[in-house]
Amino acid sequence: MLKILAIGASNSKESINKKFAGYTANLIENAEVTIVDLNDYPLPIYGIDLEQEKGIPENARKFSEQIKNADGIILSLAEHNSNFSSVFKNLTDWISRMEGKTWQEKTIFLLSTSPGGRGGASAMQIALGSFPYAGAQISSHFSLPKFYENFTDSGISDSELNSKYLEAVATFQKSISK
Ligand SMILES: Cc1cc2nc3c(=O)[nH]c(=O)nc-3n(C[C@H](O)[C@H](O)[C@H](O)COP(=O)(O)O)c2cc1C
Repeated sequence: MLKILAIGASNSKESINKKFAGYTANLIENAEVTIVDLNDYPLPIYGIDLEQEKGIPENARKFSEQIKNADGIILSLAEHNSNFSSVFKNLTDWISRMEGKTWQEKTIFLLSTSPGGRGGASAMQIALGSFPYAGAQISSHFSLPKFYENFTDSGISDSELNSKYLEAVATFQKSISK
C-alpha cells in the first residue's frame, strides 16, 4: 500500500482545502491515507531568538516525520492575501531549520482552492516557484476556483475543470506508483 499524506494548508476547522486534499487522496488507488490537520501541530511563531533559546519544537519534528514516512503528499493551499496562510508558512519556516530539505524529495500533488474566482492561484504560483528548492518533486498541480459552486460530495461538477483535475490526479498516481 502507498502511504499518502493529505494536508490542507490552513487552520480553519472547516477548511475547504483540507476537504479537497482528503477527497483527492481517497481517489488514489492502492493507498493508505492520512489526513493531517494543522491544528494538531500547534507551534509558536518562528523567530531566530526563540530557536536559539529553545531549539526546534517537537511538533515541527513530528510533522517532518510525517513527511518522511509518506510515499506521496497531496497538499492543498489556502490563500490569504495572495500568499500562504500564516499557519502553513510558520510550519514550513520551522521545518526548514531542521537538517535536510523540508519536502525530502517527496512526490507532491499541489492543489489550491478558495471561494473566489482564482482558486488560490497566487499561493499556487508561490509554491510552484519555491517548493522545488525545498526538495519537492511536484508531479502535478490544479487550482479549483469557486469551491462552493464547483465542488460537491461527488467531486467537481464543472466538466471542463473536472477533466483537468482528473488528468492531474492520474499524473500523480503514475508518479507514485513507479
Ligand atoms: C485573512 C484572509 C485573507 C484572505 N485572502 C484571500 C486571497 O488573497 N485570495 C483568495 O482567493 N481568498 C482569500 N481569502 C479567502 C480564503 O480563500 C477562504 O477563507 C478559504 O476558505 C480559505 O481556505 P480554508 O477554508 O482551507 O481555510 C482570505 C481569507 C482570509 C481570512
